[in-house]
Amino acid sequence: MAKLNMETIVSLCKRRGFIFQGSDIYGGIGGFWDYGPLGVELKNNIKRAWWRAMVQERDDIVGIDAAIIMNPLVWKASGHVDTFSDPLTDCKNCRHRFRADNLKGWENPEKIACPNCGMRGTLTPPRDFNLLFKTTVGPVADEGSIAYLRPETAQAMFVQYRNVQETARKKLPFGIAQQGRSFRNEIVHGDFIFRDREFEQMEMEFFCKPGTEDEWHDYWKEARLNWWKQTLNVSDEHIRIKVIRPDRTYIEGPDPDDVKEEKPPHYSKGNYDLEYLFPMGWSEIEGIASRTNFDLSAHANLSGKDLSYFDDETKEKYIPYVVEPAMGVERCFLVALIEHYREEQVKNEKRVVLKFPYALAPYKAAVFPLLRNRPELVEMARNLTRDLKTEMMATYDDTGAIGKLYRRQDEIGTPFCITVDVQSLDDHQVTIRDRDSMEQVRVDVSQVKGWLGERVR
Ligand code: GAP
Repeated sequence: MAKLNMETIVSLCKRRGFIFQGSDIYGGIGGFWDYGPLGVELKNNIKRAWWRAMVQERDDIVGIDAAIIMNPLVWKASGHVDTFSDPLTDCKNCRHRFRADNLKGWENPEKIACPNCGMRGTLTPPRDFNLLFKTTVGPVADEGSIAYLRPETAQAMFVQYRNVQETARKKLPFGIAQQGRSFRNEIVHGDFIFRDREFEQMEMEFFCKPGTEDEWHDYWKEARLNWWKQTLNVSDEHIRIKVIRPDRTYIEGPDPDDVKEEKPPHYSKGNYDLEYLFPMGWSEIEGIASRTNFDLSAHANLSGKDLSYFDDETKEKYIPYVVEPAMGVERCFLVALIEHYREEQVKNEKRVVLKFPYALAPYKAAVFPLLRNRPELVEMARNLTRDLKTEMMATYDDTGAIGKLYRRQDEIGTPFCITVDVQSLDDHQVTIRDRDSMEQVRVDVSQVKGWLGERVR
C-alpha cells in the first residue's frame, strides 16, 4: 500500500467517531481530544491488553490507582518543579511561540528566520518553560495552595512504595503498575494525538536489588518489544529500539543511521526508547528507563521517611533500584490505526479495512437482518445481538444494503459480520463473514456465541 499520511487517519477518526476535537463546537482547544463511541472502546481494549500482560498474568506485579493531584512536595523531590521544562522562543514580529529545540540552529536564534512569518533576527533567546499545569487547592488561591496536575503517573508508585510492599507482602523484585491521566503544558502539541496536553499513561515501576538493574532493564526491553509485536501485531520493519546511554546513542533495528546523540533523562542512567515509524518519521512510543534509586532516595530525603528495604535472606538493607517501562495510550492508539489500516480493491471498488487484532477491535461482531421490512428477521437479528452483548461488544444495524453495512464494519475493524436471512427462519443458521478473508460460513444460531467467543477471546 502507498505510504499512509496522517490526514487519512485523522479523517477516518472523525468520520467514524473514534476521536473528536475537544470542545469542538467552540472551535476546540489545542492538545485536548475527546474519544467517541468507537475510540473509547479501542482505548479500553488497549488498556485491558496492557493490564493483562503487566498485572493479571504476573505474580510479581500489583496495581494501584492514585489521585491525580498529589502533595506539591512530590514534584519538588522528583525534580519536576525545578527541571521539567523545554526551551521556549517567541517571535517579536508575529508573536508566535516555538519550542526552540525543534528549530534548526536554535542555539543562535538571532541568526535564524521565524518559521511562521519568515523574519530574521526576531526570535528571542530561548528561556526555560516549565510544563507543569498549576492549580490551587481549597478556597483561598495563594502561594500556599498551589498544586500541580501530575505530569506522569510514576511518582505515586514511588510515594506509595512502602504501603504497597507491606500490604501486598511483596519481596524484591516486584513491580507496581498504574494507568491514568497525565498533563503536560506542551509548548507545541500536534501530529494529531501524538503529543497532547492531557493524555493517559500506563507505567510500571519494577523494584529490584542494586546490581541487578541492568539484567532487569534488558528483560523489560525484550518483554515490552514482544508485547508490541504480539499484542499490537506491529511488524518488525516498523518498530526499533533507540538505546540512550550517557556516552552514546544508537539504534537496534531498522534505519540505524538515522539517529541523533541524546542524553538520558535526569533520573535515568540509561534508556531504551521504543520507536514506531509514524507518517512523520520514527518517534517514541514507550520509554524503558533505568531509574536507579533516584526517586526513592529523593522522596526519603524530602519526606524524612525510611524507604529502604530489608532483605530477609541476605540481611542487607538498601534502597531498591527501579526499572520503568512507561507508555502513552494515545500513541498506542495511533499505532493500532496506522499499522492496521488497509485500502483494498474489491471488484472495482475500494474497501478500507482496519485489520485490528481481534482483542483491540471496538466491536467483535455486527448483526444485520437481510431484509429490514421482515419483522421475523429483525427480531431474530435483534435477539442474537442481545445475546452476544452478554459476552462481547456487538452491534445491530439495518440502515442500509448488506454490501454497505459490510464496508462500514470493515472500516471500523469489526472482525465478524452476521447476517440473518430468510433461510435462517427455517434452518436456524446464520451467515458469518470474516473481515479479512471476506469468506462466509453458515453457523447454527445457537452456536454463534461460542463460535465467536473461541475466536475473539
Ligand atoms: N515516567 C516516565 C515518563 O513519563 P516519558 O518518556 O516522559 O516518561 C512516557 O513518557 C510515555 O508517555 C511516552 O513514551 C509517550 O508514549 C507518552 N507521552 C509522554 N508525553 C506525551 C504527550 N505530551 N502526549 C502523548 N503521550 C505522551
